[in-house]
Amino acid sequence: MTSAGARTTSLYESDIERVVVSEDEIRVKTAELGKQIAADYGEREPLLVGVLKGAVMFMADFARAVPLPTQLEFMAVSSYGASTSSSGVVRILKDLDSDIAGRHVLVVEDIIDSGLTLSWLCRNLAARNPASVEVVALLRKPDAIKVPVDVRYVGFDIPNEFVVGYGLDYNERYRDLPYVGLLKPSVYER
Ligand code: XMP
Ligand code: MG
Repeated sequence: MTSAGARTTSLYESDIERVVVSEDEIRVKTAELGKQIAADYGEREPLLVGVLKGAVMFMADFARAVPLPTQLEFMAVSSYGASTSSSGVVRILKDLDSDIAGRHVLVVEDIIDSGLTLSWLCRNLAARNPASVEVVALLRKPDAIKVPVDVRYVGFDIPNEFVVGYGLDYNERYRDLPYVGLLKPSVYER
């Protein structure tokens, strides 16, 4: 029997240039981050804030990898407008459902590119009087950073190239790919 993951992979295979972070690498790193966070937080219960839609896969796996009781919240923000590079102008599309005052907030991000979105988000959350705000990001592009953001937990540093999969999309496609991969230029040129 073919797993759902394998089926998705084969349907997209011809569009992917190469695997950037494999399913196994994601699984191992997520478990490591989960343990590290449990050790750092101890008795403090983190409130996970997943950033939609890109972080949804990482959020689901990460929440189950933290051996601590956590609560899950989601925010949706838009920074891109029509272009493919971040403007730093951020709009809240969906806000948190609960008050975070006094809570230990852990923002769960898919990828840090310029850092503009995250820097805005951290300031916005800090203004709501949480006990703390930290960030865990699955991916970071060190060569794309424009504003410094204090990200305590990072899964993988990757080259400054547009990647898809494991939540990340190109025109809303490839989010369901089980790994992070580089798109073939022919896909953009279609
Ligand atoms: P900034 O530049 O503000 O952008 O750090 C962060 C957001 O931009 C999106 N992003 C990507 N999405 N492949 C994607 O599918 C990429 O390579 C990529 N780089 C940035 C993403 O939504 C992220 O939260
Ligand atoms: Mg996106």
